[in-house]
Formats: sequence, C-alpha cells, structure tokens
Amino acid sequence: MGKDLSQYIRNEAFLDKIVSAEEAASWIEDGMNLGMSGFTLFGEPKEFPLALSKRGETEKFKVNLYTGASLGPTADQSMAEAGIVNLRVPYQGNATMRGKINAGEMYYIDQHLSHVAEEVRKGTLGKIDYAIIEAAAITEDGYIIPTGSVGNSPIFVEKAENVIIELNTTAPSAYEGIHDIYVLADQGDRREIPLYKSGERIGEIGIKVDPAKVRGIVLSEQPDIPSPLFEPNEETQQIANNLLDFFAKEVEAGKLPPSLAPLQSGVGSVANAVLNGMKTSQFKDIEVYSEVLQDGVFDLIDAGVVKFASATAFSLSKKRVDSLAEDLEKYKDKIVFRPQEISNHPELIRRLGVISFNTALEVDIYGNVNSTHVSGTKVMNGIGGSGDFARNARITIFVTPSLAKNGAISAIVPFVSHVDHTEHDVDVIVTEQGYADLRGLPPVKRAEKLIEIAHPTYRPQLLAYFEEAKEKVGGQTPHILEKAFSFHNNLKEKGTMLFEENQVKN
Ligand code: COA
Repeated sequence: MGKDLSQYIRNEAFLDKIVSAEEAASWIEDGMNLGMSGFTLFGEPKEFPLALSKRGETEKFKVNLYTGASLGPTADQSMAEAGIVNLRVPYQGNATMRGKINAGEMYYIDQHLSHVAEEVRKGTLGKIDYAIIEAAAITEDGYIIPTGSVGNSPIFVEKAENVIIELNTTAPSAYEGIHDIYVLADQGDRREIPLYKSGERIGEIGIKVDPAKVRGIVLSEQPDIPSPLFEPNEETQQIANNLLDFFAKEVEAGKLPPSLAPLQSGVGSVANAVLNGMKTSQFKDIEVYSEVLQDGVFDLIDAGVVKFASATAFSLSKKRVDSLAEDLEKYKDKIVFRPQEISNHPELIRRLGVISFNTALEVDIYGNVNSTHVSGTKVMNGIGGSGDFARNARITIFVTPSLAKNGAISAIVPFVSHVDHTEHDVDVIVTEQGYADLRGLPPVKRAEKLIEIAHPTYRPQLLAYFEEAKEKVGGQTPHILEKAFSFHNNLKEKGTMLFEENQVKN
C-alpha cells in the first residue's frame, strides 16, 4: 500500500494489529452476531464483508447482521448473494437482500433506528461477538475516528467482545472533528441529554475503544459508495412546491418563523426535490436536525438557507462523493454527525420541535401511513427513522405521489395494508394534488381532506367507500370491513386498484 500508517494509526498499542481481510473473516463462526458500522451506504466496512462473503462461497455458515441502517453492494448485497445472513436488523434497502427476505430465505427485523442501541444494551439481540467498524484514523489517545456515518458504532464497540477496525486510508482526513459521540448511560442511571440546539456539541470526536478488545485492523482503500442522484421531475417538483406552500402559510399565519424549525427530511426523490426547491425559497437560517444529509444540504448552506446540519450519516450522489474531501474542509464547522440514538432521540426531537417529513407508500383516508410493505406483505426497505421522528415531531408530514405503477395503484386507500405510522402521529399529507392539513380534525373531517388530494381518477371510488361507510356503519371512524381492502383485492385480481365502473372506456 506504501502509505505511512503512523499518520492513520497514531497509538502504538494498535500498530501491530494489522491483518488481512481474509484472516479477520476467518474468525467469524456460524451463528455469531456482527455489529457493523454503516448507514445509507456511508461508513461501512468493505474489505471485511467481501472477504466474509467469499468465505461463504465454499463454507456453510450464517451470521446475524446488525448495523446503523442500509449497507451497499460490498456488504448487504454480497452477503445476501452469498447466503450468509440469517437475520438482518434494523434497516436495508438493497434489491438482492429485499428479494431474499421476501422469499423467506433470511429473517429481517424492521426496527425503529433509535431503538437498536437500547436493544443491544438490554441484550435482546444477543451479545455482539464482533463489532466491525470503518475508521478514518485511530488517535493518539485510542479513539476510533469514524468515516461518513456514526450510526450504532459506539454501542457496538462498547458491547462487543471483539472489535475489528477497517481502516480506510482513502477517507478524507477532515472527517476528524466532524463527529460528536455522546454515549448514554444505562436506563435508570440516565439524566437528560444536554443538547438544546442542533448545532451544539456534547460528546467526543471519536469512539473510545479498549485496545485489548481490538483483535485486528484491516486496511482498505475502497472509496465511499454513492447513492443514485434524484433529479426532480414534474411530479416530485409539484409535491415539493405544495410542501413549501404549506410552510409559507405557516409562516404567514405566524405559527412558524422564517427559519422554520429544525428540519428532518427523509431520503429519496421527493426529499431531494424539496431541498432543491428550498434554495430559492423565502426561508433563511434553517437548522437541520435529521438522520441523513443528502447532496442538497451543501447547496443550501451556500445559499444561506441552512445554517447548521446535524445528522448521523451522509447519503450522497457520485458528484458529491467525488468532491467530499474539499467539501468537508469547507463545511466542517456547519455539520455534525451523532450516534443514531441521539440524531433520532425522541427526547431531542420533541425538545427541539423538529419538523419532520418522510415518504409514504400508501396512506388511508383517516391518516394511517404505510411506509414499508407493498400490499401489506412484501417489505420494501423498512421504517428507518421515520417512526422516531413521526411520533415526536412538532409537525409530522408524509409525502407521496398520489399514484404508483402508472396509475394502477392509488397511494390513498380506504385502509392501509400495513401500519407504520398511526393516524395519531400524522399531521400533514402532501401529494402532487395538494396538501391535507389533518391537525385538529376528527377522523371524518380528515377523510374529506385526504380524498381531495387523491388522484382525480380515484376520488370517486374513495368517496363512494367513505359515504357508504358513514351511512351503513357510522361510528367514530367509519369502515366497511368487508370492503376495506377492496382496492388491494382489485389490484391483485385485475392488476389495478381502479374499479371497472371508474375506468375510462375507449
Ligand atoms: N404500492 C406498491 N408499490 C409502491 C407504492 C404502493 N402504494 N408506492 C410506491 N411504490 C413503489 C414505486 O412504484 C417504486 O417502485 P420501483 O422501485 O419498482 O419503481 C418504489 O415503491 C419506490 O417508490 P418511489 O416513488 O421511487 O419512492 P422513494 O424512492 O422516495 O421511496 C419509500 C419511498 C417509502 C420506499 C422510502 O422513502 C422508504 O423506504 N421510506 C421508509 C424509511 C424512511 O422514511 N426513512 C427516512 C427516515 S429519516
């Protein structure tokens, strides 16, 4: 490799621990629990999981894989392809892994991201046999400097019997100083988390590790893994405009200041369009208190729209990955990465008064949201942090195009086929048709608003269901249980949710 390792491994106790990825992978036994760094493809080890997957081609073993959130091609994908994952926790977003989960070839627990560390503390996921953590450096006083995510790495390192560090010598040195590692005490011995503004620092710059636990250091030169770039299209742009219109009305009504409130945005196409739309908006000096920072955040800082951004990980496109080293130098004092139990902590989300917006797959006429399961059965990605924010935010917003699959699916349905966020947690729904502000409304009034933002082709049959339910059944939340899934059944039988009588005949 020819690099002077002493600039990366600055504590002598670690220098003699370098091993090959193959050797580190050979330590893993059937049934072990691995706590791996990584979140939305950033900060994950790459050489180690590739070597472990290679071993899986000739040996029969399975591990339980716990992470921060989704991993990329070198970890989730290669490990799923090799068939070496028994159980995956708490989030994935990889097509190969999704296929294996839905085919019943591996198990998956789709868990609130802020809950994972507590589950590790409580031991419900078993002991962590190995923590495998990507690092940019090991400091003089023995701290692991993470790379582009923190996720659950601190708790994995604290609780693991053994630690493997994957030292990435291509990671920008400016990662050092960007993290704020605050470790919670056990429940019962815990005080409030002393964070009162999203820009404050309350912890340390790295993860403290006992050198005696570090069994090996694997060297890597594999660059960060980019996510797809989501360019806004007409539909996502319209959803973004509607959401920005909602924010503008809140400011006009004096309910929010022009700096809004600390903002959490989900990942994907709509979130990116909203961030994009904010560049030319009236909003200024916004604080971001989120889980993931996407490309748009750098532009928003430049435009003076965002003044500080706190999260647990990057999720960046190729263009931003390529310029990350310079960007980190430039934006270092405006960005902080925290453990995911801090970025997503209910206490902090509620205290800071975060406005949260995430994407729904489907929403029902009373405001229950499904973010994870297609037709109630097949998991897409997972709940991620959306539940942490939805339950605790000042304003909880879900966005979705009103149609999916070329109009065969309506995102507004009589009853969601899976519930991630209940009607009690959801304030505003935004589609390209408009926004429905559900706050302060009883269920029957919410239904009227939600049907208005459904796609016009589906409004008549939603209205018909709602009117019939009110008339024949009534009650606080009227439903005709035999027909509650009529849209989904029609989709299954006829390939579309649109009933025959509502289809336009040629
Ligand atoms: N039924 C079936 N499929 C649906 C659907 C529905 N009601 N609504 C959308 N889809 C499909 C789309 O057609 C698309 O399929 P494709 O990949 O085959 O083209 C896929 O779901 C993704 O939809 P898309 O419109 O591209 O949205 P997205 O990339 O913004 O992702 C979620 C949407 C909901 C899958 C994604 O945001 C997610 O996983 N959210 C949960 C976790 C979360 O919110 N994390 C952030 C917390 S900080």
